[in-house]
Amino acid sequence: MSGTRYSRTRTAGGCLDPRRPACQTVAMFEHKTEPGWIAVEEFLTGAVVHPDGSLERAVQSAADAGMPPIEVAPNAGKLLKLLVQVSGARRVLEIGTLAGFSTMWMAQGLPDDGRLVTCEYLTKHADVARANLDAAGVGHKVEIRVGAALDSLAALEAEGQEPFDFVFIDADKENDVNYLEWAIRLGRPGATVILDNAIWEGAVLEPAMDPVNAPGIISALELMGRHPKLDATVIQTVGSKGWDGFAMAVIR
Ligand code: SAH
Ligand code: DHB
Ligand code: MG
Repeated sequence: MSGTRYSRTRTAGGCLDPRRPACQTVAMFEHKTEPGWIAVEEFLTGAVVHPDGSLERAVQSAADAGMPPIEVAPNAGKLLKLLVQVSGARRVLEIGTLAGFSTMWMAQGLPDDGRLVTCEYLTKHADVARANLDAAGVGHKVEIRVGAALDSLAALEAEGQEPFDFVFIDADKENDVNYLEWAIRLGRPGATVILDNAIWEGAVLEPAMDPVNAPGIISALELMGRHPKLDATVIQTVGSKGWDGFAMAVIR
């Protein structure tokens, strides 16, 4: 497993967690895809997933605002919605909002009086997401907390909020282990935890491919596999977002 196929195009970005000034959270931006994966995903999206117009406009709004195309694929977003629905979740916690695409899907799976708290470091992203969520008619369910997620999570605990039923982790991968630990603290027993980007183009087996992000993902998978309070699995995916996947755990 080596060579250019798995290499990432990176641009240097600022660290999005002020506690870790040495880190460089940079987007891979260019997912490594194959034409067949894209064609099949387009077929599935049209034939099965049926994203509504507001979801399609949200993706476009992010592109127009110059944000990286790193939202979940439509079929993965729909899975998040269905998982929220079948789990009967009333309170969802998301770490990493971007333009609110995954947020919109999960909010669609919530009852009308359900609540979703989503954590986003960048004000610009939060502003785009707020507009998208309001335009989609789910804004009343969603609170966006702007700032380093670790601060927002500590604040949620300090406020003594009701436990969450469903947690979606999708922000800076270096903090995946910290986010998992927060999910266990803030989630109720029986809650679902989903961790995005669990395969990272295969870098889970070859961390040198991405020394910034891969170690955090690997540590998070190892923790999911051994934590006494978690029962977990991992699914590999291919499509418009390249070769990736997500991990799922239930809090015991
Ligand atoms: N869940 C979104 C995609 C999130 S992309 C979707 O599928 O539609 C990751 C997001 O996490 C980016 O918007 C980035 O700004 C944010 N982020 C990165 N580091 C963060 C941090 N330390 N705290 C909060 N948000 C962070
Ligand atoms: C990146 C982040 C994501 O959450 C994702 O799903 C894909 C890519 C990134 O930072 O490159
Ligand atoms: Mg992701």
